[in-house]
Amino acid sequence: MINDVLVKPLDGVTPDSDTRATISARPGGAAANQAAWMAHLGADVTFAGRVGARDAAYHRRELARAGVRARLAADREAETGSIVIMVEPDGERTMFTDRGANLRLRRADVPARLLDGAAALHLTGYTFCEPPLLEVALWLLAQARARGLAVTIDPGSAAFLARMGPTAFLRWTDGAAVCFPNRDEAAVLTGEAEPVAMAARLTRHYSVVLVKLGGAGCVLAVPGEAPVQIAAHPARATDTTGAGDAFCGAFMSRWLAAAAPGERPARLAVPALVAAAEFASRVAATVVTRFGARPV
Ligand SMILES: Nc1ncnc2c1ncn2[C@@H]1O[C@H](COP(=O)(O)OP(=O)(O)OP(=O)(O)O)[C@@H](O)[C@H]1O
Ligand SMILES: [Mg+2]
Repeated sequence: MINDVLVKPLDGVTPDSDTRATISARPGGAAANQAAWMAHLGADVTFAGRVGARDAAYHRRELARAGVRARLAADREAETGSIVIMVEPDGERTMFTDRGANLRLRRADVPARLLDGAAALHLTGYTFCEPPLLEVALWLLAQARARGLAVTIDPGSAAFLARMGPTAFLRWTDGAAVCFPNRDEAAVLTGEAEPVAMAARLTRHYSVVLVKLGGAGCVLAVPGEAPVQIAAHPARATDTTGAGDAFCGAFMSRWLAAAAPGERPARLAVPALVAAAEFASRVAATVVTRFGARPV
């Protein structure tokens, strides 16, 4: 869980002095945003994470508002993670990240019984990038595999991926049902220069690959078939924060809805996957036109 602080300078930045800006605080965090979108679009979703005790009630309330079942461990020592996001006039962002209580996530915060009756386990790359968290992530993956659940992965951060090593990340997440890297993350994972080549390459590890390309849309790839390029839905970008999370959440809401209740998500044929990605692009396009990353 993350507290987002969005900073939009109103003038050119003045070093050593004041720069006028609009500043707004919002609940964030990639997995929490995605959970909110999934629940908003009709999926049955539980989010588990760790927050500072001071704002635990606020985060529970915000997730509940979107329809997410929240299981938040309240940390009495660390504060909720926070990110200061500076939004440039073209909607591009610079981020300063303090992971706070997230770094203290432990097994007891994500009890395995949460997986009982679930169809899928979703993890972001952030859960893999510090040793104590990695231990939790690998344990959850083993629990999901033992139960026959589908696993879905948002690598989440090219910088963190580069630090933890792409080979190790690919080995840990190998066999996942869906992987949602953005262009930079897919480049780190594959060493390829072209998104179509990145997507094709990643099908060696994942059953469905969606490489997100911002305003240029996405590439969908499944093993043994030619990758499909899908255009973005046209939008006037104000703040692209959470576009990827909304995209993943919307795609997964459709993907999960295609499976019978309590069943493993179906291995959808390419046209159905394309339709889900087009739906996800429409949802993501609405998010970039306004401030904030959550549906409500
Ligand atoms: N400027 C834009 N105009 C229209 N659609 C956009 C724009 N930016 C992003 N999108 C949509 O959102 C999807 C995901 O965005 P992006 O590629 O930025 O993912 P990301 O880098 O994971 O995002 P995040 O910053 O949330 O982590 C894109 O595939 C596209 O459909
Ligand atoms: Mg992302």
